Amino acid sequence: MAPSRPAERGQPPERWGSGLGFVLAAAGSAVGLGNLWGFAYRASQGGGAAFVVLYVVIVLAVCLPVLVAEMVLGRSTGHAPLLAPVTAAGRRWAPLGWLFLAAAVGILSYYAVLMGWTGRSLLHALLEPLPADMAAAKDYFTAISSGGDAVLGHLLSLALTGVVVAAGVRGGIERLSRWGMPLLFLLLAGLAIWAAFLPQAREGYATFLLRWDASKLADPATIRNAFTQAFFSIGTGIGAILAYAAYLDRRSPIPREAASVVGMDTAVGLMAGCITFPVVASFGLADVVGSSTVGTLFIALPTGLASLGATGRLVAVLFFTLAYIAAITSSVSLLEVPVSSLMDRLGWSRGRAVWLCVTLIALLGLPSALDVAVLERMDAIFGGVLLILGGLLLAVLLGWGSSQRFRSDLEHSGTSGSLVAALLWALRWVSPVAISLGLVVSITDLVRNWGG
Ligand code: PFF
Repeated sequence: MAPSRPAERGQPPERWGSGLGFVLAAAGSAVGLGNLWGFAYRASQGGGAAFVVLYVVIVLAVCLPVLVAEMVLGRSTGHAPLLAPVTAAGRRWAPLGWLFLAAAVGILSYYAVLMGWTGRSLLHALLEPLPADMAAAKDYFTAISSGGDAVLGHLLSLALTGVVVAAGVRGGIERLSRWGMPLLFLLLAGLAIWAAFLPQAREGYATFLLRWDASKLADPATIRNAFTQAFFSIGTGIGAILAYAAYLDRRSPIPREAASVVGMDTAVGLMAGCITFPVVASFGLADVVGSSTVGTLFIALPTGLASLGATGRLVAVLFFTLAYIAAITSSVSLLEVPVSSLMDRLGWSRGRAVWLCVTLIALLGLPSALDVAVLERMDAIFGGVLLILGGLLLAVLLGWGSSQRFRSDLEHSGTSGSLVAALLWALRWVSPVAISLGLVVSITDLVRNWGG
């Protein structure tokens, strides 16, 4: 089963420079705005430590096997997301390739808008004083989150993503991840240490992350929050990791690499909580965090930091820098899905594929840039439903349809038979059942909230 991907004419097939390069790029895809703002928001919805426990269980039992399956599909076929399912299991599976494409393009179209807000907040913190009170912060947020500013931020963020992806797997994506991820961890650790010395830091941890209430383990809202957060955060189910894995060496230990990605992603969510919750508790901003997902990141944090003067501004600059790094290492993985598919399917050059995709996604994202309500709907459809559906189909494809491929790819790269058997068991029996339930809840939610 040697990778059969047609190389760009006259060019050798692209490859990662090293296993570490792949792990950092895949972790960069997983670690994104979802970790920095979705985790804090959902953890603050009342689940406390029960949310964290459920999150970890779902990540390990449901998402990890699917992530391994997605990596195996990419590496064993050597094809991009559009063609990999067909190569593995025949034409009947062609719709899964299209689903990957639609989900990645749809998510990137609004993710770039969120990146634009992040970049704008960074510039604002660099150039102007932070908003003095909550009313000023809300006005400021309204100004950056719609209209001309939002459109400009969206276009610039997409263009920057395009520049990185056009530079290639090794020269663009891997290089970005190699300096971006260590820098991100450094900034996160520095800010978490700083936050630990805030006056109400303990109260922040205790209220949001450590409060233990066993009944929350069975609370549907906590389960739903943990499930949605786990899937979006790991980002498995839409072919981004599949596209990356197609450039992977045949000997690399996929389960270990997948575990590193999942570990880094969860660590970043927790560390981000260790920054936001002390700030929120110390400056009495709990209501803002609980009232909307973007509340924590774009409204509560700058307002809280404003009262610290120059230190607060420096912290805001560092925080939005880290958020922008997290966002761009994710957006490049989303863009790689349609780009690698065009290269693979039509033999296009990378540059041509990148700029066509960037143009189309820029247009598709305009409604989200102009209206936050559209952005929320896009997130519910593409991030909430299609991503989870992709995860379900991946589990069925590699757990049932092509389980032999799953087994032989992992065994050939040195994974022990018992680990392969355990992963396959989870992929067959745990992931599909859990994901189907999650999907029903997501669709019900979507339909219920459609009108309002
Ligand atoms: N995991 C990213 C985040 O938490 O922001 C978002 C994402 C990236 C989702 C890549 C899906 C994906 F393929």
